[in-house]
Amino acid sequence: MIDPTARCPEWLVDRIINSGGSISFHKYMDLVLNDCENGFYSTGRLNIGKDGDFCTSPSLGNDFARLLAIQVVDWLLDLEKSGIKFELLSLVEIGPGEGTLARDLVLAIAELAPALITKIELVLVELNIGMRERQEKVVNNLDGVNYRWSNIEDLILRPVTGVVIANEVLDAFPVERLVFTENEVFRQGVTLRKINNEYFLEFVDLKLNSEIINFLKESKSLLNIDFPPKDICNRWITEWHCDLPSWFEKLSKVLINGSLLVVDYAMESNRYYNVMRKDGTLISYRNQEANPNVLKDAGLCDLTAHLCIESTINYALTNGWKFIGETRQGQALLALGLSSFLYSLQNPSTNNLSAALNRRESLLRLVDPMGLGEFRWLAFQKDNSDDLVLGNRFLKEPIS
Ligand SMILES: C[S@@+](CC[C@H](N)C(=O)[O-])C[C@H]1O[C@@H](n2cnc3c(N)ncnc32)[C@H](O)[C@@H]1O
Repeated sequence: MIDPTARCPEWLVDRIINSGGSISFHKYMDLVLNDCENGFYSTGRLNIGKDGDFCTSPSLGNDFARLLAIQVVDWLLDLEKSGIKFELLSLVEIGPGEGTLARDLVLAIAELAPALITKIELVLVELNIGMRERQEKVVNNLDGVNYRWSNIEDLILRPVTGVVIANEVLDAFPVERLVFTENEVFRQGVTLRKINNEYFLEFVDLKLNSEIINFLKESKSLLNIDFPPKDICNRWITEWHCDLPSWFEKLSKVLINGSLLVVDYAMESNRYYNVMRKDGTLISYRNQEANPNVLKDAGLCDLTAHLCIESTINYALTNGWKFIGETRQGQALLALGLSSFLYSLQNPSTNNLSAALNRRESLLRLVDPMGLGEFRWLAFQKDNSDDLVLGNRFLKEPIS
């Protein structure tokens, strides 16, 4: 049965026909998000925030940035006093979305450690022109701050020392989808079905390639996981973030000394590859609605897949990174002092009551264990000596 909501836009019909009639799910996800002329991100159609497609932590106000800045300042000051040579310390944000986190981090750093501002540069790494244009409008009036846009390839040519932040971007990297039946495993693909002169998208089972075969072999020994897990009924689908190893590799050439913080939807391998999770973690977002139908409204929705924590850490370790630690966002933000922000709102005057209530609601959303509070903070360090010691306040016991 064809899904009537999975109409294929004309541009994607051409891409699929030109690729021989079917494409891998990985290619599909890349096209619908990043295709230069039609992708959800590249056209700048994505709208982040309460009135947009979905909320991210920075889109709820500047408190996320103000708390994260406490950790970022610690790291920058540690690097400054480490004796390492640098021209400027770089604060690199990968996948800056609307640009609000980048802007609010710099403003918070200026408040927390004014002397740092002339010693740092903000580097925004954005793949998609439509999103970059939106970021330019938000970041362009940062007076007295060095800022620029760059890409990973250029940064590899002129590596930096500093802090790299990747907030809710790795979940948007295209994934391979793997389909298991009791006896066989396939690479999920996407193909076309023509009905009454109209094209629809549908899934198709493709043959595995050697990369996927290696992934299955390696993961089985690394994670001690059976693929598929025992007792699947009929079909069991999961994802592989196949672009992560090369991303960590490239990024290890970008950062000479410093830290990398990945904040994202993530879960442990035993939950990720659980028999109950029979459709994987992929989901689409549009107008604040989550939808498991990832072929619907192709190019008009965001697609996101969780990270597997152990696999992500392993990809980092095998590409030159040291693992600093991992925690849930709720814990991290409490450790950085979120409760003091809440206390400061206890006695609002009547004329700012509504603003105080909104801010309180946003702070609670940041730590909500059923929502953003469940996001994982995974921190890594890169150094060319063993002497670099970075303080990691976000991993400490929460301040009550
Ligand atoms: C879901 S948004 C996250 C936005 C932002 N970090 C936030 O938290 O609000 C993903 C962003 O990452 C960008 N992006 C996707 N893949 C990327 C890549 N490989 N390198 C850099 N940016 C990328 C998208 O264009 C978009 O701006």
